[in-house]
Amino acid sequence: MRTIAHVSDLHFGREDPALVAALQEDLKGAAPDLVAVSGDLTQRARRREFEAARDFLQALGMPVLAVPGNHDIPLFDVARRLLRPLDRYRQYIHADDNPFYVDAELAVLGLNTARRTALAGDGRISLPQIEVLRQRFAPLPPGLVRVLVTHHPFVPAPSGPAHTLVGRGLEGLQAAEAAGVDIVLAGHLHRGFTGDVRTHHVAIKRSILVFQAGTAVSTRLRGEPNSYNLILLDPPRLACTVHAWDGQRFRPLAPTRFLKTDDEWRREG
Ligand SMILES: [Fe+2]
Ligand SMILES: [Fe+2]
Repeated sequence: MRTIAHVSDLHFGREDPALVAALQEDLKGAAPDLVAVSGDLTQRARRREFEAARDFLQALGMPVLAVPGNHDIPLFDVARRLLRPLDRYRQYIHADDNPFYVDAELAVLGLNTARRTALAGDGRISLPQIEVLRQRFAPLPPGLVRVLVTHHPFVPAPSGPAHTLVGRGLEGLQAAEAAGVDIVLAGHLHRGFTGDVRTHHVAIKRSILVFQAGTAVSTRLRGEPNSYNLILLDPPRLACTVHAWDGQRFRPLAPTRFLKTDDEWRREG
C-alpha cells in the first residue's frame, strides 16, 4: 500500500501564507510515501520564489518528486529564458528534469514538459523523453504501480474553456501504454478532475487514469477552491481523495474509488 500526495501549481510569489501553513499541516497528517508536485512551483521563476518553494518542500521531511511548469521558466528575463531556462529550478528543486522514484510497490517518473520557446505557456514531450519513459519502466517487475507526472495535461477538462494539451501527448501515452503506466498526474489548469485517457485518445487501448490537481496554495483560482489530491494505492484498488480548502482547512471530499480487473481500472460506487 502506498500513498501519493499530488500537489500542483503552488505558485510561490502568488501564494496565500494561510494556505501554505494549512497544507503543511494537512500533509503531515496524511504522511504520504511520496509528494508528487506537478509543476508551477513559482510564479515568475524568481530566486526568492524558488527559495520559498524549496523551504516548503524541505520542511515536509518527505520524499518529493517534482517537475517544472511553464511558470518555473523566466518569462521577462529573455536572456535567462533562452540560455538558462531551468538553472534556478535545477539549483533549488531538482537537478534532474525527469526525476524517477521507485520502491518495492511504486514507480513514479516525472517528465519536464515546460518549454522556453512556448511563450503562451504550452508544453511538450520530446522524443528523448519518450525514450526515458521506456527505459525507466521497462526493467521493473509487473506488480509495481507505474505513475507518470507532468505539468501539462494529456486530456481536456470535462467542462469550461478550451485549452491546449501537452504536445506529442499521444506518442507519450502510447509509450506509457506499452510501459504499463497506470496513472498520469498533471496540473497547469488549476482545476481538479479525474478521468481515463481513452475518453479523449481513442487510439489508446489500455486503461490509464488521469488525476488533475487544482492549485494548492496560490491565489490564481479558476472557479474552484484550492485543493490537492491524496491518492491511496492498494492494488487492485485505488482511491483518490480531493482535499479542498473550505476557508479554514483542507477538507477531504468523498473519495473516487477504482478497482482494477482484467487490466482495466473501473470506477467503484
Ligand atoms: Fe499554474
Ligand atoms: Fe502552468
